[in-house]
Amino acid sequence: MSDQSIKMNGETLDIAEQRRDELKQLFPGVFTETTDAEGNVVETVDFERLKAEVGTFTDVYEGRRERYGMDWPGKRDCMKLIQEPTRATLKPCRAESVDFDNTKNLFIEGDNLEVLKLLQKSYYGKVKMIYIDPPYNTGKEFIYPDNYSESLDTYLAYAGLVDDEGKKFSTNTETEGRFHTKWLNMMHPRLYLARNLLKDDGVIFISIDDNEQENLRRICDEIFGEENFVSSFVWEKRKTRENRKSFSVNHDHILCYAKTKSLFEETRKLLPLTEEARARYTNPDKDRRGDWQSVAITAQSGHGTKSQFYTIETPNGRLVDPPSGNCWRFTEKKLKSLIEDDRIWFGEAGGNVPRQKVFLDEMESGLTPHTLWSADEVGTTDSAKRELNALFDSVTVFDTPKPVKLLERMIHIANCEGEIVLDFFAGSCPLAEAAFKQSALLDKPVKYIVVQLPEKIPEESEVFDAGFSTIAEVGKDRIRRVLNVDSEGQAELDLKRGNNLCRGFKVFKLGQSNFIQWHGMPGVSEEQVIDQLELHIQHVDETAKQEEILYELLLKAGFGLDVEIIEIELGGKIVFSISEGALIICLEDELTPELIDAIADAEPMQFICLDKGFKGNDQLKANAIQTFKSHPQSRDSELVFKVV
Ligand SMILES: C[S@@+](CC[C@H](N)C(=O)[O-])C[C@H]1O[C@@H](n2cnc3c(N)ncnc32)[C@H](O)[C@@H]1O
Repeated sequence: MSDQSIKMNGETLDIAEQRRDELKQLFPGVFTETTDAEGNVVETVDFERLKAEVGTFTDVYEGRRERYGMDWPGKRDCMKLIQEPTRATLKPCRAESVDFDNTKNLFIEGDNLEVLKLLQKSYYGKVKMIYIDPPYNTGKEFIYPDNYSESLDTYLAYAGLVDDEGKKFSTNTETEGRFHTKWLNMMHPRLYLARNLLKDDGVIFISIDDNEQENLRRICDEIFGEENFVSSFVWEKRKTRENRKSFSVNHDHILCYAKTKSLFEETRKLLPLTEEARARYTNPDKDRRGDWQSVAITAQSGHGTKSQFYTIETPNGRLVDPPSGNCWRFTEKKLKSLIEDDRIWFGEAGGNVPRQKVFLDEMESGLTPHTLWSADEVGTTDSAKRELNALFDSVTVFDTPKPVKLLERMIHIANCEGEIVLDFFAGSCPLAEAAFKQSALLDKPVKYIVVQLPEKIPEESEVFDAGFSTIAEVGKDRIRRVLNVDSEGQAELDLKRGNNLCRGFKVFKLGQSNFIQWHGMPGVSEEQVIDQLELHIQHVDETAKQEEILYELLLKAGFGLDVEIIEIELGGKIVFSISEGALIICLEDELTPELIDAIADAEPMQFICLDKGFKGNDQLKANAIQTFKSHPQSRDSELVFKVV
């Protein structure tokens, strides 16, 4: 009886713990530390923050007790910014793309906050690795001026797509007073939305220097959960000395967080064994198991138990105790079995301090990645600049590029074969080049999404004279140049592996929705808008191209921008079949009963058409709804019919 009650009690606790873990997985930022009545520090849920996360904007500052966590002016608005639905869309731009119809790679031009929002539905949980190199907030860079009530309008004005009414877009300077706040308000919503896109075993790497390293670490702890912190890598970005008053800064930090650390650790890849590391394996005793290297069998005595302190007699009769402050790594019994299996090495003469033989063939082949990323292995800021200059005929098109090898290392460690990688502060787009180069080594290509603001390039500059007016143009041109430069070598690989998906890239540009009702309704949900649409006949922007409408509907329906689209004829009309017929979109101006029947027979999971196609014929619309409802396929799973 008592056993049973203990067990039941335990199970109850387990369930509560499991629930907490699930909550933590969904909202890592709402867990915080506080003190209980006895003054002990305990983990607790910050319900005010939880409310803010799920959409109830109570004042988190009101009546709060002291608690551990990070606050700054504007933090509440970050949640509003995240939750504010976007009125934007991504418009395909074939003219600037390469191999538009076949590629899986995307270049998206626009403000990354709006873009991240637009990608939420289609790319939720799909991205394996994110790399970002945001502005370091040195006081010299432009920090994007988010405004949650009119973020798209701000973008359109910034990008010169509408009259900017004298709005000022300037760099963030320390004298402005809101120096760190402005940066935090810019970073928080973007990181929050980025986390949603990561796969469960996905990982994010963020370049940063000492200006904001500490703040970044704290907001990442909140967004990703402290327990998902993987490492703060030190990248040796410079080998030469800077002439500075205090110290020459030769490193950057690369913060790394996983969506779920344990899952990331299961999939992360080792680094290839270097020639130097391979050369450390030899076979002096001609062991039949092949080359080996020896490793010490001592451990710090503080970690040892009694059974790890004993005297070993070597084959030539010498007695050896563990060195002072140490014990043996193995118990005497375990050591004996290793000696019997010829896995302990006492040196040629048999009298050395014993070491363990580690065989190359028995090791998971590769090196455990270091937290120190040396310039020799992954390049420097200077080498990155040289790489880029070489691509652009010696014109310095971008001042602070990151080396491609640095990003190749991240792609490698995060095990991105056949996966999607994302950089939403893409600059000159080294991630695209790194993905392209890694794809050449793998059976399945690494697909990339790079997002870059059309940040203006000053007119009185060498880059402007070379024909580039925005950084986005530099990024796109870099990718084109990389594709050309490597085309011969790549063509060979394509033949070998049938791997040609990595050769092109599709360009999309952020712009206003093609649906008039979605243009200017901040605060109105998509569902409300769709209801409203029933009341309007002409609501598609007349200047919108068919392909632009198609991609907007794809995104809203939750399909990726790289999905296969096939144009087919059904019931005498042209429709678009997406993802092997899972979704059918019809943009025809006139719908007919024959078309509706043919679509129902094709059994898509979703069908979307334009309201104007019914030409105000409510009877035809009612019949269509009835046809889809009564179709035999609807009994197994509901066919979703949407009119926009
Ligand atoms: C430090 S640079 C990245 C450099 C890049 N890693 C490289 O190696 O070329 C940061 C980039 O982010 C871009 N950026 C800043 N705010 C942005 C925003 N809101 N949306 C998209 N890009 C943005 C800037 O234009 C700049 O090119």
